[in-house]
Amino acid sequence: MSAPDLHILFFAIFASLLLSARCDSDRTEHGAALFIFGDSLNDAGTNNYVNTTTSFRANFPPYGETFFHYSTGRFTDGRLMADFIAEYAKLPLIPPYLQLKNGEFVGGANFASGGAGVLTDTYQGSVVDLRTQLKQFEKLVRDLRKKLGNEKAKRIVSEGVYMVNIGGNDYLNPVLNNPALFQSISMEDYVGMVVGNISTVLEGMCKVGARKFGFFTMPPLGCLPAVRLATGNGSCSRPATELTKLHNVAFPATLAKLESQLHGFKYSVFDLHTSLTERIQYPSKYGFKDGKSACCGSGPYGGNYSCGGMRGVREYSLCPNPGEYVFFDSYHPSERVYQQFAQLMWNGSLRTTKPHNLEALFKHGNI
Ligand SMILES: *[C@@H]1O[C@H](CO)[C@@H](O)[C@H](O)[C@H]1NC(C)=O
Ligand SMILES: *[C@@H]1O[C@H](CO)[C@@H](O)[C@H](O)[C@H]1NC(C)=O
Ligand SMILES: *[C@@H]1O[C@H](CO)[C@@H](O)[C@H](O)[C@H]1NC(C)=O
Ligand SMILES: *[C@@H]1O[C@H](CO)[C@@H](O)[C@H](O)[C@H]1NC(C)=O
Ligand SMILES: *[C@@H]1O[C@H](CO)[C@@H](O)[C@H](O)[C@H]1NC(C)=O
Repeated sequence: MSAPDLHILFFAIFASLLLSARCDSDRTEHGAALFIFGDSLNDAGTNNYVNTTTSFRANFPPYGETFFHYSTGRFTDGRLMADFIAEYAKLPLIPPYLQLKNGEFVGGANFASGGAGVLTDTYQGSVVDLRTQLKQFEKLVRDLRKKLGNEKAKRIVSEGVYMVNIGGNDYLNPVLNNPALFQSISMEDYVGMVVGNISTVLEGMCKVGARKFGFFTMPPLGCLPAVRLATGNGSCSRPATELTKLHNVAFPATLAKLESQLHGFKYSVFDLHTSLTERIQYPSKYGFKDGKSACCGSGPYGGNYSCGGMRGVREYSLCPNPGEYVFFDSYHPSERVYQQFAQLMWNGSLRTTKPHNLEALFKHGNI
């Protein structure tokens, strides 16, 4: 064989290696997709595209200062749990659905909207509620089918992991703005209504083909800096704590029921309630200096939701190092907390994350 022939041969082998690598990567370059739903704990900038007020936005400094160095719309100083999960799953950062152009697909989509609830009444007109998020997801799946064909779209949807966090605003809204509500409906019945509506949306997601879900338990709503401020004496709010407790019993029970009713339904629940409560009570054990007060805000505990000075109150203070605080603003944890939580959710033991962790849901299609 002459030297030029050898070159051609090597080129042919090299090219076929490249081609086969590309075919393989078609299946695995992004692994399973990640779809994100819910409220401000998951919102990566959805509300930047919604006609709403600055109360429901975080697209101004100092939000985002730690990691992005600009404000993306995330309600924290840096990344959210979903951002870390995407990283662990070797996916790119998952952008807001409303930001995607021309149906491009980049490994997932984020539908979560700060302030959103599952009840239509919760901050209606200012947020994208969970039902509407489901409608948007249905549209995304229709577009995927058109673009990639039924088979491939079906695989992306059924192998995908769905992070959903909702309900906190359905509880905080009446506690903070309409406490008299609980004279006309019992807390048990109200929680039943919230969880019942979450269940309906989850069934709707399953109907579209979603199978693998990642949830958190409800955080200690009564002890958020903004809610402590509202009680007037700095203690945690009793009604908010009661609703949280009821939810954290009713919601896991509903998930177990869905698992027995819906073919292939698999899920993970990270016990965010216990993990956040431990950090509020024993901050130094987890590397924090302050567990109670917000890094960014004003008034007692930084509980006045004025971080950034864009929500009607101009004054606010900002701590020099958000990583020392459990709470970045009056409602939301700091990036450092989210990172610790994401690790527990990804590969934590059964003590914090059950019945599966997210790594298992991503890696093993059929557990
Ligand atoms: C945005 O909402 C406000 C208040 O609800 C309304 O007056 C305004 O027309 C809306 N703007 C757009 C572009 O829809
Ligand atoms: C858990 O996952 C994180 C993030 O990928 C990794 O850094 C850590 O080593 C993992 N821990 C175990 C015990 O596998
Ligand atoms: C959903 O919420 C509505 C109120 O917004 C309520 O009337 C209905 O009963 C709830 N659905 C379920 C299944 O709980
Ligand atoms: C704080 O105020 C709440 C009412 O907002 C009350 O129920 C609670 O007992 C008070 N706690 C203390 C320690 O004073
Ligand atoms: C927040 O601060 C502003 C200005 O200092 C004040 O008018 C408002 O009442 C405070 N809000 C709460 C909930 O304390």
